[in-house]
Parts: sequence; structure tokens; C-alpha cells
Amino acid sequence: MSQLTLGIETSCDETALALYHPQRGLIAHQLDSQVALHTQYGGVVPELASRNHVAKMLPLLTATLQQANCSLHDIKQIAYTKGPGLVGALLVGAAFAKGLGFALQVPTLGVHHLEAHLLATMLEKPAPAFPFCALLVSGGHTLLVAVKELGQYEILGETLDDAAGEALDKTAKLLGLPYPGGPALEQLARQGNAQRFVFPRPMTDRPGLDFSFSGLKTLAVYTLAKEQPTQQTKADLAAAFQAAVMDTLVLKAKRALQHTGYQRLIVAGGVTANQLLRTSMQTTLSAQGKEVFYPHSSFCTDNAAMVAYTGYQRFLRKEQDTSLAIEVLPRWELTAVAA
Ligand code: KG4
Ligand code: ZN
Repeated sequence: MSQLTLGIETSCDETALALYHPQRGLIAHQLDSQVALHTQYGGVVPELASRNHVAKMLPLLTATLQQANCSLHDIKQIAYTKGPGLVGALLVGAAFAKGLGFALQVPTLGVHHLEAHLLATMLEKPAPAFPFCALLVSGGHTLLVAVKELGQYEILGETLDDAAGEALDKTAKLLGLPYPGGPALEQLARQGNAQRFVFPRPMTDRPGLDFSFSGLKTLAVYTLAKEQPTQQTKADLAAAFQAAVMDTLVLKAKRALQHTGYQRLIVAGGVTANQLLRTSMQTTLSAQGKEVFYPHSSFCTDNAAMVAYTGYQRFLRKEQDTSLAIEVLPRWELTAVAA
């Protein structure tokens, strides 16, 4: 089976490895989430994240090879997340990839984490056909991209301040919910009345595809300060906040499809797990005759399957690292990897 691409993801708080086969597709993927490790601190502690990646990398490699029933020598090429992300965490994956590549005498390639997120849907059957619009909504990014084909990306809009997931996490923290706040806030919102508090849909009253979520977060702080902080108040606030964020995302995604004339939207990133986002996106876009695609739920959040797939596609285009130097890019624009 000596045609496998190994994918390695360590950009934040998930250590993940995966194997992609050119004909059989994804044949193994393993992931270790550090959520429990960081929960007690209310957010990701970069130094702890890096150390934990080091500890988990080898056991995960063994598990990945066992799952695929193959050996190290079946690995033909290695793709790893080169950025954007936490510098120490990225360095662990990059150093591991380069070391293993050198030992096995196979090429390595640094992959863009956001490109990997937006191609994760290509692992699904059927995969969406190009061109499409992509909405990336994670803890670190909120981005609308026109994807003409693999490698041809145009940024249509992005957040001017907090990412959607970041705004959800911060508001969840304000409401006393555990990290990561998004899923906890969604759960609390189920018991709330979204109509009790009026939250605006930021930047939807003017043309353009950029986002801004920090005003909503400030409004949540003021609203909570004015009220008795009962469980019901918190649930109502969670519901109103969530509705404002998700409505804004849906409205801008619809606008991006109108702007490009594209028929398909793919939505990726951790916030995709949100049920309200999924339902309202589906309802709104199918009413317009447009299609929405999502990655498999395990590949909406950080994972190595998307890294292996993206690496495979880029290796096909004859790309590979040209030096053994370990280089990562904690800040890296998506347009830098666009053709
Ligand atoms: O893509 P991801 O795993 O990590 C990066 O940021 O790269 O996204 C994590 C984000 C967090 O902000 C988390 O709160 C949010 O996704 N999230 C959710 C839900 N599940 C995860 N937000 C809203 N509703 C959810 N069910
Ligand atoms: Zn991510």
C-alpha cells in the first residue's frame, strides 16, 4: 500500500494523524483532544498544548498505522499543518513531520490549516463540485471565501474583530459556562427565549461581506449587568446572542452566493456543530434553490483527515518542502496559498 499520505495536525489543542490513500480515500484517522486539559484554565494554555502534542504524537502514529493495518514504510509523503496556529504547537507537528520524513526518506509539505478546513468537505460522498462559496467559522476565524477551484481562493469577507466562535466562547464564559463555550451556550440557549433581549445583526444593514462580533459581546456584558443573573436570564441571553450570531452568518452567506452567482455553499469549522446554524442555513438557502454542504461531523473541528487530503492534492501538483529547516507560520493569510 506504499502510496499513503500521512497528515499531521497540531495547530491548537487537538493532536491528530490520518492516512489518505489515492483510491481508497481516508483509511485511518486518530485524534486526541486536549479539551479536558485546558478546561480548568478557561481556555487553551499554549505551553501545555505543545507539551501534550509531544506526548501524544508517537502513540497516535502507532494507533493510526494499526487502524490502517500498514507499516511506516507504506508512507509515501507527509503533510503537516504549517500555520496559522499556536507557534509552539505548530512546531511540534512540523518537527515530527520533518524528522519522520528524513528517517523514511519521503517528502514533506506544510499545509495551510484554513485551506484544509475548506477542503474537508471534499472527503464526503458526493463531494461538492467547484466552484463554491465557503464559510469558515471556528474559534480563530470567520471567513467567507470564493473557491473557484482547488488553490483558487478569493476572500470575500472576514471578521474585523472577534471570530464567531471566539465571541460565543467569551459570552459563554460571561454566563459562567465551561470552556469551550460554544456547545455549552447552545445547550443553555435551548431553555431560553431568544425574543426577550434584542440583539442586532452586526454589519447587515450595509453592503459588504465583513463581520464584526465584538459589539454583540459588549452588549451581552451590559445586558447581564442590568438584570438579575437568574438561570432563566442567562438562558434568554444565550438564546438571543446565539440567534444574532447565527442569523448574521446565514445572511452574509446568502449574500456571498448572490454576489458570486455560485450555487453551492460549504460551511466548515467548529461552529458548524451548531444546530441552529445548520437549520437556518438549510432553510434560507434551499428557499433560494442553493445547496449547502458540510464536512462529516468529526471533520468540522480540527482533524488530520483534512490535512492529509489537502497535502495529497498539493503533492499531486508537485509541491513539497525544499529544505529540512523546521519552519511554521503562526500568522498566514489564506490568499498566500492561492494560485
Ligand atoms: O474549528 P475549531 O475546532 O477550532 C479552531 O478554532 O480552529 O472551532 C472551535 C470553535 C470554538 O469557538 C467552539 O466554541 C465552537 O467552535 N463550537 C461551537 C459548537 N461546537 C463548537 N459553537 C457553537 N455551537 C456549537 N455546538
Ligand atoms: Zn481549525
